[in-house]
Amino acid sequence: MTRALSLLLLLAATVPAAAGDAKAGRAKAVGCQACHGLDGLSKLPDAPNLAGQVEPYLVKALTEFRNGTRKNEVMSVAAQDLSDADIANLAAYYSGIQIDVIPPG
Ligand code: HEC
Repeated sequence: MTRALSLLLLLAATVPAAAGDAKAGRAKAVGCQACHGLDGLSKLPDAPNLAGQVEPYLVKALTEFRNGTRKNEVMSVAAQDLSDADIANLAAYYSGIQIDVIPPG
């Protein structure tokens, strides 16, 4: 492998594929807040926290709800009309919420 190619692969691995706009994501998250909170903390017993969640995981989950790979009564509807940009922006917003972790005990 040439040096230039390895450098390119290294860059591809470290630079996020689609860098979302967290500010636009926050505006879009108004439609998610009843369940996930604008702060990313769940407001319902069956809704997960999204604050500080890994960004590519959020993109994956939302894409899978949208294309039907992952199904949930509520989320399949909530993700239905999201564009790729919406998903990238929402993922940037929720993953960007800073969290403190203090394990029990
Ligand atoms: C009416 C409540 C409700 C709304 C509105 C809602 N969600 Fe959800 N969301 C849920 C529930 C319930 C789940 C758990 C689904 C499951 O069990 O698979 C979930 C799951 C998710 C997950 C998967 C998290 C994980 O840990 O796998 C993501 C990401 C997510 N929601 C993002 C959003 C975003 C972004 C919006 C707004 C566009 C939104 N949700 C709107 C209730 C909601």
